[in-house]
This record gives sequence, C-alpha cells and structure tokens, in this order.
Amino acid sequence: MECGNLKVVTSLVLASTLVVLANCAMENQGECMFPAIFNFGDSNSDTGGLSAAFGQAGPPHGETFFHSPAGRYCDGRLVIDFIAQSLGLPYLSAFLDAVGSNFSHGANFATAGSTIRPQNTTLRQSGFSPISLNVQFYEFSDFHRRSQIIRNKGHVFKELLPKGEYFSKALYTFDIGQNDLTAGFFLNMSTDEVKANIPDVLGQFTTVIKDIYDRGGRYFWIHNTGPVGCLPYVMDRVPITAGQVDKVGCASPQNEVAQYFNRKLKEVVVHLRQKLAHATLTYVDVYSVKYDLISHATKYGFEHPLRACCGHGGKYNYNEHIGCGGKITVKGKQILVGKACKDPSVSINWDGVHYTEAANKWIFDRIVDGSYSDPPISLKNACH
Ligand SMILES: *[C@@H]1O[C@H](CO)[C@@H](O)[C@H](O)[C@H]1NC(C)=O
Ligand SMILES: *[C@@H]1O[C@H](CO)[C@@H](O)[C@H](O)[C@H]1NC(C)=O
Ligand SMILES: *[C@@H]1O[C@H](CO)[C@@H](O)[C@H](O)[C@H]1NC(C)=O
Repeated sequence: MECGNLKVVTSLVLASTLVVLANCAMENQGECMFPAIFNFGDSNSDTGGLSAAFGQAGPPHGETFFHSPAGRYCDGRLVIDFIAQSLGLPYLSAFLDAVGSNFSHGANFATAGSTIRPQNTTLRQSGFSPISLNVQFYEFSDFHRRSQIIRNKGHVFKELLPKGEYFSKALYTFDIGQNDLTAGFFLNMSTDEVKANIPDVLGQFTTVIKDIYDRGGRYFWIHNTGPVGCLPYVMDRVPITAGQVDKVGCASPQNEVAQYFNRKLKEVVVHLRQKLAHATLTYVDVYSVKYDLISHATKYGFEHPLRACCGHGGKYNYNEHIGCGGKITVKGKQILVGKACKDPSVSINWDGVHYTEAANKWIFDRIVDGSYSDPPISLKNACH
C-alpha cells in the first residue's frame, strides 16, 4: 500500500488505517536510498576533472589508496569518495573524463581550482579553473538531456548512464566557494573587498541551485567552506602580521572572511528552502569540523597540523612555485618533490592546499551522522 492511497484506506476499518499510517510514518523516516550522486565543486571534491582536461595530477598523489595518481589532489580518497561509499555507490567518475568512466550512479562536475563566479584569468595565469560553477551546470544540463537519448539506444549505454528517474532521486552535493575567497586574497584585495564580493558570488550559487531544481533535482547537500586561513598556501602567500595569527597558528583575517561567507551561505540556504517547495537542503558545517581537527590535532592522533606532508621548504613545507609532485634540482640532480612526512595517516595537510585521506576520513566520520548539519539529519536521511 502506498502512502498516497490513504484516502481510500480511511474508508476501510480504522484498525488497518492505523497500521498503514504507522507504516507511512516509518517509511518517511527510513533511509533515502539515493541511487546517484551529482557533485559540483573544486579540488575538495574533484575526482579527475581537472586532470582529464589539463593534465594528470602526478605522483605521489593517490599513492596511499589508489597506489597511483587517481585524478585527486590527495594521497587517497576525498570526502566525496567516503560519501559515495557510505551510500553504497561507486566512486564518482569525472564528467570530463572520457576514458573508463561509468556514470550509471552519478557524475562529478567538480574541478580543482573552480570558483563559483567565472574568473577573468586563465588557469595558467592564476591557477583558477575555467570550469566555474555555471560551466559545471552547463555540463550537467547537457548530461541530463543527452544521457537519456544515448541510454535509450540500449546495449552498454544502459550500464554506463543513469536512469532518467535518478535525476529526481539523486543527492546533489556541493563544496565550492573557497577559491572565490582566495582569488581575492591573491589579488591583494583587503578582507573588506573580498567580503563585498560575497553577495554576488552567492547570488550566482543560488541561480545554479534553482536551475538544478528546475531540472528535477530535489536533495541538496551543501558543504560550507573550510578555514582557508589554516592552509599553508594561504599563510605562505598572504602577508599576515603577528597580531593576525590565532592561538592555533592560523591567519585570522582569512578565516573570518570564510566564516562570513558561511554565515551568508547559510542565509542563502534558508532562503532557498522557502523558494523551492519540494527541495530538501542540508547545510553542512565543514568549517567547524576542519578547525576542530587542526586546533586539537594531537588529541585526535594527528601531528603538525599546519605543515604540508608533500612539499618542500619554508615554515609550512610548502613552496608556491614547486609543489607536491614537482621537480627540484639538487646538486645537478632532478628530484621529485614528494612525501616529506613520515606517515600521511597522521598528517592533516597533504600538499599545502588539500587534506590527506586520513583527515578526509576523519572529517567524513564527523559529518555523516548529521551532528554538523542544519537541519541535524544524517547523510542517509538527507531526503527528509
Ligand atoms: C570579470 O569581468 C567582468 C567584466 O569586466 C566583471 O563584470 C566581472 O565581475 C569580473 N569577474 C570577476 C570574478 O572579477
Ligand atoms: C557501471 O557501474 C555499474 C555499477 O557499479 C555496474 O553495474 C555496471 O556493470 C558498470 N558498467 C560497465 C559497462 O562496466
Ligand atoms: C600582492 O602584493 C605582493 C607583496 O606586496 C606583491 O609581490 C604581489 O605582486 C601583489 N600581487 C598582485 C596580484 O598585485
């Protein structure tokens, strides 16, 4: 008996009505069984997009888990990988990856360096990806339409592309915005100038959520942005005075901008809940989880929270010009900039910009049950 047939049921005996009502209540609280994930974001959740289009992230990326480069800026898996795994779904193929991809249970539109707003610079000039969130939406929109035309041809396409119904049952995940902030910092904008851009940035974010909703998307899982002021690539590049360093050693002004962005993002999510009557939007406070990890690293079994594991030089084992996987010349010999830390499983920062697999797993374990979510609903129930 479906919940929708209650009117018919009420004309039957009261006892059976109550049984059905009880079943419906349980069903509504049951797990969502998301059949697919569509992800939008930056390097925090890129599983191969930038690598496919602009060259593979080389070794030692991927070595802990995949044992070779796997399109991720990490020694292993990302939070989005743990999300997929815990929902019983395969790791997401990058939409841009033409080789070996399987989109039957979703697609990943994220690329490393992506911003919400399109930048006016090339990847080479600034390091920001041309695949900004609006472009990720164009790709999704095209995928939505064409995947069904191709799937209807049958054969292997039925196994490689999602069913049409999955688009309205899927979980839509977002982790983007960090680079809109760093783009400003790296242009030497004041924190007030960076903050002044945030309404426009979030306006463009809102547009994309609405556009996905118009294509049938209903369940949205939105990560806020992390404490960028604790990342070596920010602390190394942005001039910070002694008074601007917090007790943990992070750059306060940049973290305050991130928190400001997050407050505004939360407001946007509240606004979208009112506008999109059939949507479920979960706001996930990844900032607090990451900051807790960095500020209590030892307590949680990690060490040197502000030092990159893979990199070389400087206070943070990070060099803007020669990063993890790059080559340096020492005494006439070319040497790979590799792992400098003894054990990535007790390191938090992988390459000065991204978290290690161990940190990603730790972060995932904190957010999966809804403790850091608004509303406080677990990942598996994020459709209610
Ligand atoms: C890019 O340039 C356009 C036109 O000048 C401007 O409207 C837009 O705000 C710029 N984008 C960014 C991210 O600065
Ligand atoms: C694609 O992945 C799905 C789910 O893991 C699997 O059932 C299917 O066989 C795969 N298709 C191909 C062609 O490998
Ligand atoms: C930002 O300021 C630093 C230090 O004054 C300078 O070296 C750098 O060129 C500036 N960057 C931009 C994009 O103006």
